[in-house]
Amino acid sequence: MNSNKSFQKLDEIRAEVLASRSGDKPCISVCGGTGCHAQGCEEVARTFQEELAKQGLSEAVDLRRTGCHGFCERGPLAVIHPEGIFYQRLQPKDVEEIVTQTVVNKNVVERLLFTVPKLKYGIVREQEIPFYQQQQRIIFANNGLLDPTDIRDYIALDGYQSLAKVLREMTPEQVIAEIKASGLRGRGGAGFPTGVKWEGCRNFPSDKKYIVCNADEGDPGAYMDRSVLEGNPHSVIEGMLIGAYAIGASEGYVYVRSEYPIAVQNVKIALQQAKDHGLLGKSILGTDFGFDINVFQGAGAFVCGEETSLMASIEGRRAFPKARPPFPVHSGLWGKPTSINNVETWANVAPIIAKGAAWYSSIGTETSKGTKIFSLVGKINNTGLVEVPMGTTLRRIIFDIGGGIKGGKKFKAVQTGGPSGGCIPEMLLDLPIDYESLARAGSIMGSGGMIVMDEDTCMVELARYFLNFIQEESCGKCVPCRIGTMQMVEILTRITEGEGRDGDIDRLDQLARTVKAEALCGLGQTAPNPVVTTLRYFRHEYEAHISQKTCPAAVCRSLVQFRILPEKCTGCGRCAIGCPTGAITGAKKEVHSIDVSKCVKCRACYEGCRFGAIIGESVHAHSRGKVANA
Ligand SMILES: Cc1cc2nc3c(=O)[nH]c(=O)nc-3n(C[C@H](O)[C@H](O)[C@H](O)COP(=O)(O)O)c2cc1C
Ligand code: FES
Repeated sequence: MNSNKSFQKLDEIRAEVLASRSGDKPCISVCGGTGCHAQGCEEVARTFQEELAKQGLSEAVDLRRTGCHGFCERGPLAVIHPEGIFYQRLQPKDVEEIVTQTVVNKNVVERLLFTVPKLKYGIVREQEIPFYQQQQRIIFANNGLLDPTDIRDYIALDGYQSLAKVLREMTPEQVIAEIKASGLRGRGGAGFPTGVKWEGCRNFPSDKKYIVCNADEGDPGAYMDRSVLEGNPHSVIEGMLIGAYAIGASEGYVYVRSEYPIAVQNVKIALQQAKDHGLLGKSILGTDFGFDINVFQGAGAFVCGEETSLMASIEGRRAFPKARPPFPVHSGLWGKPTSINNVETWANVAPIIAKGAAWYSSIGTETSKGTKIFSLVGKINNTGLVEVPMGTTLRRIIFDIGGGIKGGKKFKAVQTGGPSGGCIPEMLLDLPIDYESLARAGSIMGSGGMIVMDEDTCMVELARYFLNFIQEESCGKCVPCRIGTMQMVEILTRITEGEGRDGDIDRLDQLARTVKAEALCGLGQTAPNPVVTTLRYFRHEYEAHISQKTCPAAVCRSLVQFRILPEKCTGCGRCAIGCPTGAITGAKKEVHSIDVSKCVKCRACYEGCRFGAIIGESVHAHSRGKVANA
């Protein structure tokens, strides 16, 4: 097939799919992302299929299993098109009513709508829900609209048109110039300008070049890359194809952790379908451009996300990082020039080519262009994935989109950038999020993890937790990271156990500087961030642990004991039911009490009590006074 015919074929598929969906044909789009899977979406989708068949509607109504819609807190969820009616927390028993009432009779099932706590009524349309309304979705625009296992859905939404444009109208140099002009920076953490990276790779002479999609995503709590790959794998493949054309690469890898089975499955299906449609392999779209993509499943070590470790892992070697230079663009996979980019970086490419660099660079801030997806987790009402323009403030993300703090508690801090990110306090809530402002606050963008903490979080324990994670994930190759992080964990552990010593804060500070300055790779260089930022913004908590042997948030087990306030206890018995060790006793409707000798300080009673009747106080309360209450 010559190239004109191939381009035509793409247009034909698009026209055919659009024609089959034109008019008001109803479509039920059921989220099939991992979050909704965990909450039973498969059964909901199956019940929809059965119910449609039962009512003779299988042909008249499209049922589409899509990727993550972002509002994972409310899953399993479904949107009924063309009206865009959003139903949440679905169970199979709700399905018959949705089909009869909404799909057939065009009525809304009120009880399944999302209700903002302050409002008394449910919100009908997806786009009117504050969580969605205040986002700007470029990467995620189509996640809730397409079936990731059907390339025709992607093509119908203008998929592969950017690739066609590039192959038809642009030289590789023009593509690179466009990406440079867009201001796109790598979304994997460091924010390196993508066009500059591609140019470096293109200009380095070699008989073979590679590109890699980094989908390792080892940050606890981060799952945006997984969701893009699961929900819209062709957007990543199209970006990689354009990148390969620009760089002159003939082979690519998607490096994805094997803990992401749906992402692995959907990428493999997408690659096969792209091949079947002449979009991968030799003579792509009938041109002389050829490119192939392999999927490599990583074993899930955090350090494997670091680019030099990742490439060692693909080569079949132990995932040890290497000192740079040489940089991968000069000597990457098997010593050949390699451009490695993050999932979200690749997914930005096709929209930039489609709408132009000027459009893209009009979004965001002076130095950070476009949008960024954040995974909003922790003590937040609307857990989920949020895509906003760079420069959006933390307050807007956490309160306007995220719906504020769970249980009406007070915001304390947000950790951005994954385990080696920093903790940002309340006084910086109006910080516009971009690479530079986060760095000034002592944190990093990382790949976009955002863990929100409430007043019940001990910042010393939090720093210990993340440092411990990093220490366990350290590959051990360089001494500053291997030994330095271990010493920091030892000091933090003794502080949280009430064994902190004078001088520990200075020791931590000194170790943090050394590890940051001397570690071989980004893992060690960023590891001290949680300690550095909690020391900067929450130093008083360290001092309370060390000097007064108290934990102000009543979290550290060695320093806290729980007590029931008789004047507040209603005898509801909720605390006793939640107690795993039977430490709480009391008759129904009578004041309960805690046997401290049995209490393991798991906080289940404290968190479960609806009357604020349980307080955590210092084990030294009698000598030093109460430190926290509900
Ligand atoms: C410990 C460590 C883990 C990393 N994990 C990831 C990851 O999971 N995904 C990712 O894209 N980049 C990760 N990076 C950054 C990569 O080394 C690299 O900078 C990135 O893939 C480049 O892509 P970009 O230019 O599109 O950001 C990690 C870096 C370090 C030091
Ligand atoms: S997995 Fe369904 S909304 Fe995220």
